[in-house]
Order: sequence, then C-alpha cells, then structure tokens
Amino acid sequence: MTDTFTSDATDDILCVAVDAALLAVNVIMSAKDRQISSEHKGKTDLVTEIDRAAESIIISSIKDHFPFHSILAEESGKQDEKSDILWVIDPLDGTTNFVHGYPAFAVSIGVLINGVPTIGVVVEMPNINLYTAIKGKGAFVEGKPISVSTTSDLIQSLLVTGFGYEHGDNWNTNMDLFKSFTHKTQGVRRLGAAAVDICHVACGKVDGYWEFDLSPWDSAAGIIIAAEAGAMITRMDGGEYSIYDDQILISNGQLHDRMLQEIKVYL
Ligand code: IPD
Ligand code: CA
Ligand code: CA
Repeated sequence: MTDTFTSDATDDILCVAVDAALLAVNVIMSAKDRQISSEHKGKTDLVTEIDRAAESIIISSIKDHFPFHSILAEESGKQDEKSDILWVIDPLDGTTNFVHGYPAFAVSIGVLINGVPTIGVVVEMPNINLYTAIKGKGAFVEGKPISVSTTSDLIQSLLVTGFGYEHGDNWNTNMDLFKSFTHKTQGVRRLGAAAVDICHVACGKVDGYWEFDLSPWDSAAGIIIAAEAGAMITRMDGGEYSIYDDQILISNGQLHDRMLQEIKVYL
C-alpha cells in the first residue's frame, strides 16, 4: 500500500514510537532487579522473557495505531504488510548488560519511509534518557536539542566501539582497530549497547563510533538521531551506509576522514 507523508504524519508516528518505547521501558525497568533467566540464541548471544515481553508490547502498540505498517523486530522477525513504512525494533539493546545488571541498555525504534531512515526513538536505561529525531527537524534528548562534539584532533578524542557475538575475521580486525585507536586517542570505550553508543556520539559524549556486524535494529533509530545531531555516517570503507550493511562508522564529522584513514590500514 502507498501512504502519503506530511510533517504531521511524521509527528504522529514519532508520538506512537515514543509511547511504545516508554511502555517497553516500564516492562524492562520493573524487571531490572529481578532474577531473569536467559536463553542462548548463540554461544554468547542471550535472549530473555523481557526482550520478548518488551517487543510484544511495542508491536501491539504500533498495530493499534497503524495496523498496515510493516515491522522488522529482532525477536519476531518481519511482518511485511507491503507498506512504505517500516518499523525497525530492538526491544532491548544490550541484553547482556541487562542480564548482568551493567548500566547500559536501551529500547530502540526506528522508522524508515520508502527506505529512508526518517524517525528515531532510543530510550537509554537505567538512567533514563529519551532521544528522539525526525529527519530534517533536529535531534533531542528529553526534549532538548543535541549536537555532536567539535573535537577535530584524534588525539583529543574519546571513541566507542562494540564487538558482536560472532568471533570471525571482522572481530579480529576490530581487536586490531581497538588497539590502534586506543593508542591514538584519549581512549576507546566498549559499553555493549550499540543504540546507546550511537546516541552518545549524537550528544557529544564521545566523538566517534564504529562497529562490524550490527543488525538493522541496532542502528535504525540511532542513525537518524545521530544524523540530525550533525554526525557523519558511512560504511567503514567510506561508502554510503544502509542499516543492512555489516559495518558502520559514525563521527562528529570533523574526525571522519582521519578515522577512515586509520581504519583503511586494517580493512
Ligand atoms: C548487541 C549490542 C552490542 C553489539 C552487538 C548487538 P543486543 O545487541 O548492541 O553492543 O555489539 O552487535 O547485537 O543483542 O543486546 O540487542
Ligand atoms: Ca541490539
Ligand atoms: Ca536486542
């Protein structure tokens, strides 16, 4: 089906996305201090009943308002209604952190319109920060505008990266990159929640982020927020980034070429 988009339509979608994300936050935060059993999707890739409960409340909430939109969600896969609007959902980004009580996890909901990332909502937890953006309308945390840092020297920068669950060639390359960037910057952090990492670039807490092997739901919301905050987003080889790519580089813009140069040595 074909939908028509006005500024009001994107505002409406953002409202539904925020409400859905906050319902999931309630589910997650009220379970945070309980003993949660986890299952293994892979050797170290965990899923809990809370990931599933959060996803189900998000999807019901979207369907109540937009029954014909398409959905791609981490735990339940794709529900393709052939709409021009695709909701891409990570109900709990940073499940491993959540299970261990490590304080960096998030709900992430991105909306693509005709394939273009257009609306993003990330709620960072357990210290709640609600990040929102609509393409062309700026990025916000808790309603206040945010922008990337102005650091232009690599040696002055603080970076963040992540390591996926597959320990193959990309993982090895990233170990080398981690070492190299750690040597040439003020440090590289590794939080374990990609949506949070990306929002931290957006609000200038870190100056750049890269990672291999993300899934679409890890980056779909964050890239809109980061782009609207002034970030530059490409593949790690400098090419145009899509949420279906297996590599991403996000920076404050000023450090982008310098980071690409560094990464090129190891790709
Ligand atoms: C993971 C986190 C982690 C990243 C992994 C993701 P999950 O998401 O974002 O930081 O390194 O690649 O899969 O499994 O906790 O939703
Ligand atoms: Ca994730
Ligand atoms: Ca997840």
